[in-house]
Amino acid sequence: MFDEIQFDRIRRLPKYVFAEVNDLKMAERRAGADVIDFSMGNPDGDTPQHIQDKLVEVMSRGKTHGYSNSKGIYKLRLAITDWYKRRYDVDLDPESEAVATMGSKEGYAHLAYAITNPGDVAVVPDPTYPIHSYAFILAGGSVAKMPLIFDDEYRVDEDLFFEHLETAFKDSFPKPKYVVVNFPHNPSTATVTPAFYERIVAMAKRERFYVISDIAYGDITFNGYQTPSIMSVEGATDVAVESFTLSKSYNMAGWRVGFFVGNKKLIGALQKIKSWLDYGMFTPIQVAATVALNEDQSCVREITQKYDERQDVLIEAFTKAGWKINRNNASMFVWAKIPECVADMGSLEFSKRLLVEAQVAVSPGIGFGEYGEGYVRIALIENRHRIRQAAKNIKTFLKKYQGEKNA
Ligand SMILES: Cc1ncc(COP(=O)(O)O)c(C=O)c1O
Repeated sequence: MFDEIQFDRIRRLPKYVFAEVNDLKMAERRAGADVIDFSMGNPDGDTPQHIQDKLVEVMSRGKTHGYSNSKGIYKLRLAITDWYKRRYDVDLDPESEAVATMGSKEGYAHLAYAITNPGDVAVVPDPTYPIHSYAFILAGGSVAKMPLIFDDEYRVDEDLFFEHLETAFKDSFPKPKYVVVNFPHNPSTATVTPAFYERIVAMAKRERFYVISDIAYGDITFNGYQTPSIMSVEGATDVAVESFTLSKSYNMAGWRVGFFVGNKKLIGALQKIKSWLDYGMFTPIQVAATVALNEDQSCVREITQKYDERQDVLIEAFTKAGWKINRNNASMFVWAKIPECVADMGSLEFSKRLLVEAQVAVSPGIGFGEYGEGYVRIALIENRHRIRQAAKNIKTFLKKYQGEKNA
């Protein structure tokens, strides 16, 4: 009915590649299969007890059940800027340079909505966490892609990064206004050095664009790697904002708490649009988030260690099963090249067959962009026992295809 009434904004969204694997996963489960699910970056652990306790205490106290503050209560914004001071020795103003968001995904979508004029261009490295590009596309802008290249230890080739970025600027009309960077990177887990941010801030000042940096996995690092922040660069707040989330570091994905800091013009735009769209997170959640950021961080170290150990188990078990994967230095993922004997299937077909034939769910790389083809993303959200079970299933799966190839 009413075929002439169409929703152009929604039509700009492509069919969600992950939905295909997800639908299959549901069908397998309904048929009774025990699917080992590495497909989503949804932490499997519970939120640390002291954070849960604070939520319950504040909620039970009463007088905290009304509308809250859309940009975040002052106490939370102060905890955010204190976190930056402790961690990166950066001074930020909680009034004008920080905003709390309902998860950082919401923040991205609304930041792009606030700052994108029709036809504006944002440069987004490919592969990417989908909202990094679709936030701009949904807001009426467009995206210039550039390939993200990294070495065997998932370290970004920074010279090549800037070559590609320069090319994206030369090739795009109108000139891009925004560049999105996300390190440690989802999905590839790739990391950068502090010098990377010095270079991008200098380039932003020269070429006149804003940088939007996402350090969602900033805490989840191993082997001595520490996540640098663009905010540490002198003068970064002239050209950059950065987001972080409590979802990963504190197993708080369902709570929906994130934040943005940095450039006053962009933060002001996000604060303003949020004041029109929402009334802020539930106050007890904001107070509990304050406690998460301010108090003992040993829970973050425990959560990080769990991913570190799981990665060890997975790499050892999968390698023995015939799937060679390199170790990375950050995030809750493994970004794995599809095994040689099944490489010509492509990532979507490989993911579907792995699900149906080995009962293992992963995310096809193509869902993160064209340069994600040839890879799958494995989220470390299953325990070591289940990881070893997955490796057993994968061994049988790969033997079959290896046999077919040799026949
Ligand atoms: C790179 C990156 N940024 C942001 C998010 C969004 O996190 P949240 O909305 O839970 O803060 C995710 C979630 O997986 C992510 O991978």
